[in-house]
Amino acid sequence: MEVQVKDKVCVVTGAASGIGHQIAVTLAQAGGKVCVVDVQKEKAEASAAEVGGKAYLCDLRSVAEIEATMAAIVADFGRVDVLVNVAGLANRTPNESITEAEWDLLNDVNLKATYFMSKEAYKVMLGQGSGKIINFSSHRGSISDGRHTIYDATKAGVEAVTRSFAVSGGPKGITCNAIAPAYVITPMTTHNLENPEWMAHMCSRIPLGRLLEMQEVANLALYLASDKSSGINGQTIHLDGGWTAHE
Ligand SMILES: NC(=O)c1ccc[n+]([C@@H]2O[C@H](COP(=O)([O-])OP(=O)(O)OC[C@H]3O[C@@H](n4cnc5c(N)ncnc54)[C@H](O)[C@@H]3O)[C@@H](O)[C@H]2O)c1
Repeated sequence: MEVQVKDKVCVVTGAASGIGHQIAVTLAQAGGKVCVVDVQKEKAEASAAEVGGKAYLCDLRSVAEIEATMAAIVADFGRVDVLVNVAGLANRTPNESITEAEWDLLNDVNLKATYFMSKEAYKVMLGQGSGKIINFSSHRGSISDGRHTIYDATKAGVEAVTRSFAVSGGPKGITCNAIAPAYVITPMTTHNLENPEWMAHMCSRIPLGRLLEMQEVANLALYLASDKSSGINGQTIHLDGGWTAHE
């Protein structure tokens, strides 16, 4: 089975780095026209050049910037077939120390931007009668270690937003799903690799006995972006090596 997104316009947020970059590469290899949306100018431009796509500089904390970015993409490409909301920030501030500023920052990037990017893409997809939205949750959207409260809350929110767009969009030919990875080796998580105790704990928690690779996440994103996933809607798919299945 060859999974393709040939000539589909694919918008990927957070595509300057990590998982988003790997998804941009994978969608481009599968024939997609990739729009790289990120706040890191040089890295976004390098990523776009690598995949033969176009970079859009956008601070996703700003709804005005989101609206302008999506308008520019539609002006350039005329449509949006796939939106992958990958950009995100993590925190692990103890519950007795979280500040309002930290709460607002994570909420703005992880949850508010996921909604407003989806809203802008959804309006275009409604006109097309088709489209696929793929969001990023985490295993922490449904379980907690007591140290990632804001992150946990934003990812649980992303799962709720996913269900809502799936229900409203389904009758109009638009699907919305979320990927919930556990630990993937990316710039967000590499610092943990130098902590042998942490690694031993993680590998004992994850039945596969290892962290995940970015390509494994990108493979699922490609499948969800392609026509092969046509019956899947409103789901959060755990890509966690079995972590959340483990007692
Ligand atoms: N790495 C993991 O183990 C893991 C596990 C579960 C879920 N996730 C989720 O996967 C997604 C990607 O994670 P990653 O590890 O690749 O992260 P990363 O830090 O490598 O990349 C995040 C990207 O988001 C961009 N970004 C951050 N703030 C932005 C803003 N205000 N405007 C525009 N872009 C902004 C960054 O510039 C960066 O390119 C996140 O949503 C994360 O929560 C990651």
